[in-house]
Amino acid sequence: MSRLKIALASGDGIGPEIMDATLLLFKAAGVMDHAEFVPVEMGASVFAKGNSRGMTDEAIRTVEDCGILFKGPMETPKGGGGKSINVTARKLWNAYANFRVFKTLPGVETVYSKAGLAIDMSIVRENIEDTYGGVEQRLTSDVVQCKRLISAPGCDEVHRFAFQTARKLGLKKVHCGHKANIMKMSDGLFLERFRAAGRDFPEIELADVIVDALCMNLVVKPQQYQMIVLPNLQGDIVSDLCAGLVGGLGFAPSANIGSNISIFEAVHGTAPDIAGKGLANPTSLVLSGIMMLRHLGLGAQGSTIENALLATLESGIHTGDFGDKSKPSVGTTEFMRAIIERLGSIPKTVPAAPAPDASQPSFIRPPKPATQQVIRTFKNLVTHVVGCDIYLDSSLAPVALAEEMQKACADTPFKLTLISNRGTQVWPTGSIYTECVDYYRVRFELKDSVTPGTFGQARCIALLDKIAEGFTVCSYELLRIFDGMKGYSLAQGQ
Ligand code: NAI
Repeated sequence: MSRLKIALASGDGIGPEIMDATLLLFKAAGVMDHAEFVPVEMGASVFAKGNSRGMTDEAIRTVEDCGILFKGPMETPKGGGGKSINVTARKLWNAYANFRVFKTLPGVETVYSKAGLAIDMSIVRENIEDTYGGVEQRLTSDVVQCKRLISAPGCDEVHRFAFQTARKLGLKKVHCGHKANIMKMSDGLFLERFRAAGRDFPEIELADVIVDALCMNLVVKPQQYQMIVLPNLQGDIVSDLCAGLVGGLGFAPSANIGSNISIFEAVHGTAPDIAGKGLANPTSLVLSGIMMLRHLGLGAQGSTIENALLATLESGIHTGDFGDKSKPSVGTTEFMRAIIERLGSIPKTVPAAPAPDASQPSFIRPPKPATQQVIRTFKNLVTHVVGCDIYLDSSLAPVALAEEMQKACADTPFKLTLISNRGTQVWPTGSIYTECVDYYRVRFELKDSVTPGTFGQARCIALLDKIAEGFTVCSYELLRIFDGMKGYSLAQGQ
């Protein structure tokens, strides 16, 4: 049987120390009988050569051939053109679901463990869309924007993964965290697709919770959650909160799952303050490695390692960042040696990891797609243009701006219906106390005499052209009806 190939990037800072130690553990547990680790060049050394992606072309090819990347933490260059390599990797390879497991561990004291509260939950975070698209522009002298894109197929992929995983783990309830009370269209779509995906999993109860209430509930009563699915930015924040509940980032594993390529990594960063000193705690990377082994079908090896880690933590052996401070701490190598010595042991104070039969890899790398895929959820909707929002760079007061805009649309099929500033209506009505900045949304809708569906976007562009003669137009968005439903939101106060 040929061995699985796993692309390996050790990372920066403490990355090489914790990765070397983890590979020693894998070797001792027999993982190398089934898998071969292929080193790839990614991270600080690649950025230093002027490569703004932080990974060589050969590294990209190898990861794409293997379908699996096991990585240590990597430094994001501050300033300059270098983007976070972690975000780039997830987006480049469409690793759409970030899956993190948070469990109370023996020997890792927290306020909850002291109170006898056991935590065992997971977060599935959408990993590609939302504000992480990095689509940002300076629009006016005073205003910048970050576009927040949420797509139905993107939601469907992440929700399907969450429910499939919940089914595999035998979970009874999955929550969707969101802010759909405020972002009715974007978070509303995320929530709507959650409910739609859940219909295929009738044995699982669905619930939703607004993200601010979720944060409070997690602190007050974390044991009420089994799995929570969240959009990207909210998921990023909530998953670090959950890491805090079980002892910090050093104890939280992370998997970035895609249909073709998946990435397994430690959650913490490169810890430059302790790099090279042999002090780093390798637990997060080991736990991520265990998730990877299970993903590959090496569940028996994963469980053996998990039980040895739990037995080690139970014994009180600890690195400097956690554990009983009255007992001396050990370094990375000694900590790993202690785990290796306990391979074959099972923990006594917490449930042992399930022990599947000696496993063989079941991971089959999906065939490489011939072209980029266009994924779609809603097809063949009937759409009509019913107006447009034009965004202007202007320092005029709302009433003066309205006069200009009414002149501009006088001989067109449109009437001026709204002007808003930072999302709040300032014309035709508004409060004198609403402060305005130099960026306006001006909404034009069809005059009552014009029938929707009688023309497309060309008339909006003609209006835009006319307005551009006297104003700086930042952008415009068509107002469209999709199968009879408005595809745009109302302004606050409208
Ligand atoms: P950090 O997680 O590297 O360090 C925060 C604190 O936690 C430090 O005091 C550090 O010593 C400690 N710490 C972290 N991991 C530890 C471990 N395994 N054992 C013992 N102590 C540990 O976060 P920071 O300082 O904000 O970021 C440093 C660099 O790491 C930055 O360049 C950042 O961009 C990068 N980073 C990379 C990530 C990744 O590759 N997934 C994730 C987060 C940050």
